[in-house]
Amino acid sequence: MLTTHKHFQANATGWTPDTWRSRTALHQPVYPCPTELQHTLQRLAQRPALVSAGKILQLKTLIAQAQDGQGFILQGGDCAESFDHCSRETTASQVKVLQQMTQVLMQRLQMPVICLARLAGQYAKPRSSDSETLGQETLPVYRGDIVNGSTFSPQERRADPQRLLQAYSCCASTLGFVRALYETGIDDLLKPAHWSTAWIDTHPEKAAFHRTIQGVQHTAQFMAALAGSDTDRFLHRETFVSHEALLLDYEHALTRQEPGFDGWFNLSTHFPWIGKRTADLEGAHVEYCRGIRNPLGVKVGAEVSPDALLALIERLNPHNEPGRLTLIHRMGADQLRKALPPLLNAVTRSGAKVLWLCDPMHGNTETLACGTKTRRFEQIMGEIEVAFSVHREHGTRLGGLHLELTGEHVTECLGGARNLQPEDLSRRYLSKVDPRLNYEQALELALRVAHLTH
Ligand code: PEP
Ligand code: CO
Repeated sequence: MLTTHKHFQANATGWTPDTWRSRTALHQPVYPCPTELQHTLQRLAQRPALVSAGKILQLKTLIAQAQDGQGFILQGGDCAESFDHCSRETTASQVKVLQQMTQVLMQRLQMPVICLARLAGQYAKPRSSDSETLGQETLPVYRGDIVNGSTFSPQERRADPQRLLQAYSCCASTLGFVRALYETGIDDLLKPAHWSTAWIDTHPEKAAFHRTIQGVQHTAQFMAALAGSDTDRFLHRETFVSHEALLLDYEHALTRQEPGFDGWFNLSTHFPWIGKRTADLEGAHVEYCRGIRNPLGVKVGAEVSPDALLALIERLNPHNEPGRLTLIHRMGADQLRKALPPLLNAVTRSGAKVLWLCDPMHGNTETLACGTKTRRFEQIMGEIEVAFSVHREHGTRLGGLHLELTGEHVTECLGGARNLQPEDLSRRYLSKVDPRLNYEQALELALRVAHLTH
């Protein structure tokens, strides 16, 4: 049974940064040259940290407040980042859409909305198969740019340790640019010229949506006029970054102690999460994550039993530390109503302090007859709406959303105000893994959620 303690224990029992190595680590690549891997990891371990322990703990405090009903989390970004898109344009448009969504939600929810980007580290992907066959040829599957290339050739599909350093460099430049954007003032991204809202004119909620956006623009203008006061804190205009802690060699190389802080931190990101496929209680990912002090996320699918979930909570947060654990359910619109209640009841009964997030993307993926992977906007919205009501009915609170989206005008998901059809998808389908909401669909989703809850 869990009990609440005011203090945490900095060091998990029997844990060191490499105890995960004695466990089974799923979804890891096989590197053809282990010596080259070791040399590269040593170099990576010498590189400066990407984020600070202080900021990680600040995020944990914000999550703890959200657990108490004082905050909402917007977690979103690419399914998989790619080296090719590590650019000024892609990063700026990602920050813009996330920031606009954050402000829209904050305008209506009237509480802090914490923006948690899937950014600067989302380079490794779990895949359903280890290999891929095209015609006569079978090659290792693409596991994300941090491991290998997506092009179907033996050279590209080879797991290349140099990519670990390349990923690190992309993360460092992305973070550097994001910090520069925030330093020089994110207000600019909230000025009317930066919003594309033509799509709203055909929407039934047209007037209300325009009012909300104008509210955000006026607030931004007003806050800019107060320059010099503590506006950043007031508007929560900062972005934290997150990624799936999948490639354990990379996470381990950036696991450090910092002077003045107890315990160990993953300094590659503020918020690592454990994916659905690697959340085995005795597996390497859970073992690695239990010992770091970052706030953690865990994806929870419809197949997880209440007992398994409680065991995972106990393992990852044995002292019931506030802000430590976020459970991200991703069940699919059809399954959620049946599968979520037993989990909510079990967690509530246990007294465990968690924040619940809904990922309405990963349970709603479908492959069309033409072979294209897509998601339907209305199904995504549907899962969110059901999630809000199921939580309400069970006396729990949905504290945020986890989305795959981009600030660019891609055509990967169906529907939305422009009502994208299957034949539209080939126009601008850029994702190498899962389909993302585009700028308009993402903004529409934020507006609809904002208007749902109030
Ligand atoms: C993801 O978030 O991209 C992902 C693979 O999710 P899940 O672990 O929930 O399948
Ligand atoms: Co995905």
